[in-house]
Amino acid sequence: MTKIRGVKFFAPISIIIIYLACTNIQTGQTTQRFYDNINGNLRTYGDLTITTPTSFSFSAMGDTHIGSSGGALMARALQMSKNDGDSFAVIAGDDSNTGIESELLTFLSQISDSGLTAFPAIGNHDIFFGGWANYKRIIGRSIYSLNAGNTHFIFLDTANGAFGEDQLHWLTDDLNRNTLPNKVVIMHFPIYIGEFSSLYKISSDEEATIFKNIMHKFGVNLVISGHYHGYGEKFIGGTRYIVTGACNNILDIGNRSGYVKVTVSGTDLSIRQIEL
Ligand SMILES: [Fe+2]
Repeated sequence: MTKIRGVKFFAPISIIIIYLACTNIQTGQTTQRFYDNINGNLRTYGDLTITTPTSFSFSAMGDTHIGSSGGALMARALQMSKNDGDSFAVIAGDDSNTGIESELLTFLSQISDSGLTAFPAIGNHDIFFGGWANYKRIIGRSIYSLNAGNTHFIFLDTANGAFGEDQLHWLTDDLNRNTLPNKVVIMHFPIYIGEFSSLYKISSDEEATIFKNIMHKFGVNLVISGHYHGYGEKFIGGTRYIVTGACNNILDIGNRSGYVKVTVSGTDLSIRQIEL
């Protein structure tokens, strides 16, 4: 009887302890990266001049997983994007497969070889083995914003599946300072995957709700995420949330490899899926 009761109570308590420990680690890592971004002297990405500021296009690629045998599509995708007249690319995290130095260097060299400017976001895979130390030394900031044409781009760090309070304050301040009509956010973990909520999304419902309110308040046009290896989209509160994590051969069921082309025409942002 005692044994049964012991087993009965031991399992839930240990699960709670593990959960709390993981949450603390996640929060701690997210906070550490935030302060390294704000206080550190990390490589950052500046504004991009667009010849026709109200009419241009860019590509959005996700989960390029450089270093994995299934992650060999980015070079071709960048070439296709460049040939199609896109001004630049954004990469929505899991740039590398495990975050080791050689993968991150290959990621950068493939971008450089393509001749197309590309702006990366950080994903959970980018801190697997190399940790944040490799990423910040080789890639640079994981939280930054820049202007391209009539559009303000914000790259957020959700590598631990969380924003953290500091980053959400930074996001609000950044949007308050912005004067451009179009706003786009790029981050690895999605809020939605199409119509579905799933384990792939930002872990805290409270953070997700605050984030959605910020998107609504500032009229953010588009949120681009990855993590899920496929495509999904949903409109909510005037913001379009898309997931484009299919720039690889390791797909979630029912998806095809590809990326997304975003065309800016004044204040209209249209989306087209490009198959690889
Ligand atoms: Fe991924």
